[in-house]
Amino acid sequence: MSSTAAAPAPLTESDLKLLQALIYRECGMHFDERRTSFLTDRLQRRLKESQLGSFYNYYRHLTSEQGKEELALLLENLTVNETSFFRNRAQLDLFQKHILQDLLQRKAASGDYTLRIWSAGCSTGQEPYTLAMMICDSLAHFSLRFPPPTRFLATRSLLPSPWRVEILASDINYKVLRAAQEGSYNEAQMAPVDYACRLRYFDKVGDRYAIRAPLKELVHFDFFNLKTEFVPQRNDFIFCRNVMMYFDQAEQKRLVEKFYSCLNPGGHVFVGHAESLLGLTSKFAMVHRDSGTAYRRIEVEL
Ligand SMILES: C[S@@+](CC[C@H](N)C(=O)[O-])C[C@H]1O[C@@H](n2cnc3c(N)ncnc32)[C@H](O)[C@@H]1O
Repeated sequence: MSSTAAAPAPLTESDLKLLQALIYRECGMHFDERRTSFLTDRLQRRLKESQLGSFYNYYRHLTSEQGKEELALLLENLTVNETSFFRNRAQLDLFQKHILQDLLQRKAASGDYTLRIWSAGCSTGQEPYTLAMMICDSLAHFSLRFPPPTRFLATRSLLPSPWRVEILASDINYKVLRAAQEGSYNEAQMAPVDYACRLRYFDKVGDRYAIRAPLKELVHFDFFNLKTEFVPQRNDFIFCRNVMMYFDQAEQKRLVEKFYSCLNPGGHVFVGHAESLLGLTSKFAMVHRDSGTAYRRIEVEL
């Protein structure tokens, strides 16, 4: 054994390039100079844990069949999972008061009572659960004002019959997906949730708040890497907020093309406050109201 065994292994320029390219290939995350020290720190930690001695060995392991688990762990360590309930209220108001209202009217008029939403990069679940709460509230109001045909029976679900809501919430990080599926939040995480919402959609369990089962049933959590070609189809809305900012422009463009292909005609994409589709595509029109922004799929005339 060498006496330098405890010293951190050196990360050469070429090792760093190899690892950066691998991470980009695998999940689209791009680490520019401002984020290199974060990347280096996480790589050092994972190398130490894996006890592979050098970054080149570590890279070889990640690209081997046996290295799949370590690769997933590394990607988990590189993601930023910051999120909150009712994040970006202005945008959510635009969604609920205008875009969703219009869609409910159009859907009810055509006898289509299904809503499909994809929360892409859902982290610990606050985003998809926020959407589920907002949609339940909106559907309750909508059904009182525009009662559906009487042939539909009332149900005990949170949704007024005959509406069906499917929210797919996906992420690349198994750890956050487990927390999201559990749906239990502490007082600090609950700060943006008002008391009417807490009473309707949460159970108080000790000093935490647990999402009630009927709300949970509306959200399906799944592992999904946005880098892959497959995308869940026929969405009315895609929320992909504060995810694209970690991708480079080429990857952002590819992602926006995929979103276009998997949105229903007239569907909308919502991105984060610091993100934009401008300059990435001409297939979406920006919708902006009271500081909230969304992007509507433009239908191409054939
Ligand atoms: C900053 S959080 C945003 C959470 C939520 N959308 C919000 O705005 O509050 C970004 C999430 O995107 C996920 N993510 C990053 N790259 C991804 C990829 N290639 N595929 C799927 N999810 C990814 C991360 O794991 C992380 O949970």
